[in-house]
Amino acid sequence: MSEPVKFPYDFIGKILISQQEIEHRVEEIGRQITKDYAQTDRLLLLGLLRGSVVFMTDLMRNIHLPITLDFMSVSSYSGSTSSGFVRIDSDHKTNINGWDVILIDDIVDTGYTLRTVQKLLLDRQPRSLRLCALLDKLARHRVELSIDYLGFEIPDYFVVGYGLDIDEKGRNLPYIASVDMEKYNQA
Ligand code: IMP
Ligand code: MG
Repeated sequence: MSEPVKFPYDFIGKILISQQEIEHRVEEIGRQITKDYAQTDRLLLLGLLRGSVVFMTDLMRNIHLPITLDFMSVSSYSGSTSSGFVRIDSDHKTNINGWDVILIDDIVDTGYTLRTVQKLLLDRQPRSLRLCALLDKLARHRVELSIDYLGFEIPDYFVVGYGLDIDEKGRNLPYIASVDMEKYNQA
């Protein structure tokens, strides 16, 4: 018999944001969105796969309005470094023309991902477009970007949990934790 697998992983560093803190903040954002969009009957939550999924499923249950869900899949990362080039792997299905769209991602690092998708969506003429992210590493932005609904600003660590991964690992942790890169690279 082989050893049972280790979980949580050895490479988990510090817990930066607890499950409770996330829960509380997501409620606040949901309340704000509920207030801001009280007049619309065409609210679309558009999430970027796969990192935003956990955030989105919690957020949508804190928005007390009719909503439609859709997703896009984009990639710019391999491992823990941004390539700057953003590829659309799969597009959304809804025709967003005339919709109030909230574009949702897990984290903003350089900002290339949200900036690129934002430009693309604006060409498709939504009625409005706002940006929402759970986390933001402000110090690392390479492009001008303002996030309308932000969960937390964090320092320049690579983090996992609550949907965020490193090479697909760590998405199902209920908190946000830093990755101990030395340990990760040994594994
Ligand atoms: P950006 O295009 O450089 O802003 O990177 C944003 C994307 O990179 C996000 O959608 C994440 O998928 C990924 N990313 C950036 N930083 C982290 C991190 O610390 N942990 C996990 N994923 C990250
Ligand atoms: Mg992502």
